[in-house]
Amino acid sequence: MLDSNHEQPHNISIYIHIPFCPRLCHFCGCNTGIAKEKNHIERYVRALIREIRTVSALIDKNRPVTQVHWGGGTPNSIPFEYIEEIMAMLKDEFLFSPKAEVAMECSPAYLTHDHIDMLTRVGFNRISLGVQDFHAEVLQAVNRLSSLLPMEELFAHLRANHFNSINIDLIYGLPRQTPEIFADNITQALALSPDRLVTFSYAHVPWVNKAMEKLEKIGLPTTEEKFHLFEMAYGMLISNGYVPIGLDHYAKPTDDLAVALQEHKLHRNFQGYCTRETTGQVYAFGSSGISQLWNAYSQNIKNYEQYIEAVENKGMAIERGYHLKPEEIMVREVINAVMCNGVLDFKETASQFGLTADELKSALRFSPEKLDEFIEDDLLELNDNGIQVNRQGMLVVRNIAMAFDPQLDVKQGMYSKTI
Ligand SMILES: C[S@@+](CC[C@H](N)C(=O)[O-])C[C@H]1O[C@@H](n2cnc3c(N)ncnc32)[C@H](O)[C@@H]1O
Ligand code: SF4
Repeated sequence: MLDSNHEQPHNISIYIHIPFCPRLCHFCGCNTGIAKEKNHIERYVRALIREIRTVSALIDKNRPVTQVHWGGGTPNSIPFEYIEEIMAMLKDEFLFSPKAEVAMECSPAYLTHDHIDMLTRVGFNRISLGVQDFHAEVLQAVNRLSSLLPMEELFAHLRANHFNSINIDLIYGLPRQTPEIFADNITQALALSPDRLVTFSYAHVPWVNKAMEKLEKIGLPTTEEKFHLFEMAYGMLISNGYVPIGLDHYAKPTDDLAVALQEHKLHRNFQGYCTRETTGQVYAFGSSGISQLWNAYSQNIKNYEQYIEAVENKGMAIERGYHLKPEEIMVREVINAVMCNGVLDFKETASQFGLTADELKSALRFSPEKLDEFIEDDLLELNDNGIQVNRQGMLVVRNIAMAFDPQLDVKQGMYSKTI
């Protein structure tokens, strides 16, 4: 932790995990639950505050916080005095950049005008709304409540409160989601004009959440049907001017993410896409939180009761960690450049690590033949300086990035199977 003060980036990103929801959606793959006892949220918040104090004591006070992200669970469902207390405490412990992006993942089922006013007052300027689907029959099938306020009213109030980035999450592949229903989801989302939109592919992992078996009984779409929903959403969003970011994210052309993509400065961390300018090393607080430092990752205990106990006893609750070797850091940078921006400049990346372009290629065990299939299918351009993946190629960018992972061998014909 102390080492991170001398590593890049100098900026700090903070992640706060709230593992509670008032009611559980049957599709959910997140680390969340209903608080088992009345005082558990209070005890959890006390533990969070203690963990933040323990870590902040190790951090150089001159490093600016450029990003704060609250996720969960449903952070907007806990009593608001806790959110106010934690935000006040973060501002006491850290130096906030005036341009810090402060965001919360919210379920619209629990969002009122007063809540939005409070979020503004304590410094939030970005929000992600988990809509998932606008239709009562789909929400009912997955045990989810619809928005408390009409969505137009919610958006108007957020805009009046200067939320300068509003994201909508949708999921495709849920039971009862016909192509007509999903097309209507995109139409309704477009009418709200969000700055960003994500269409998550429903990940069916009943061994992570047993409640998902209930969705199987109602009936899930086939892979082909899901692909059709993805294609349809992609076409509708692109033709309405949205820029695709990675596989399932979209942004308005003026949004920071689309601008960063244009300038090859798009980046990604466990919280999602971000820009090179604002992303810092990530310090995560709360159960299951993953800290991402320049040369190390660590994850907190997942079970929130065990997390509370560990923090009450030791001030921290790290369950596991990994120290990256210098060559792993280099491969991570290369793969990030390809996956986020679709671009790799061998010379420029090599110079970051004091290498020549040829030394970098040899460290990556890169050979141009690994990209033959993608070039034949007109998905990317390769020259002596590097690669440029085109828009079609970005749909299979995971497979393209595999060509730069020295641990993997790309097999011919492999990528068509992983779309
Ligand atoms: C922590 S949750 C969102 C915050 C808030 N609790 C809500 O539901 O609106 C983050 C996002 O993960 C996505 N998600 C959750 N479970 C998923 C699954 N099994 N497959 C794909 N996406 C999932 C949902 O779109 C959700 O909005
Ligand atoms: S999707 Fe959101 S509200 Fe639903 S259970 Fe998961 S975290 Fe909670």
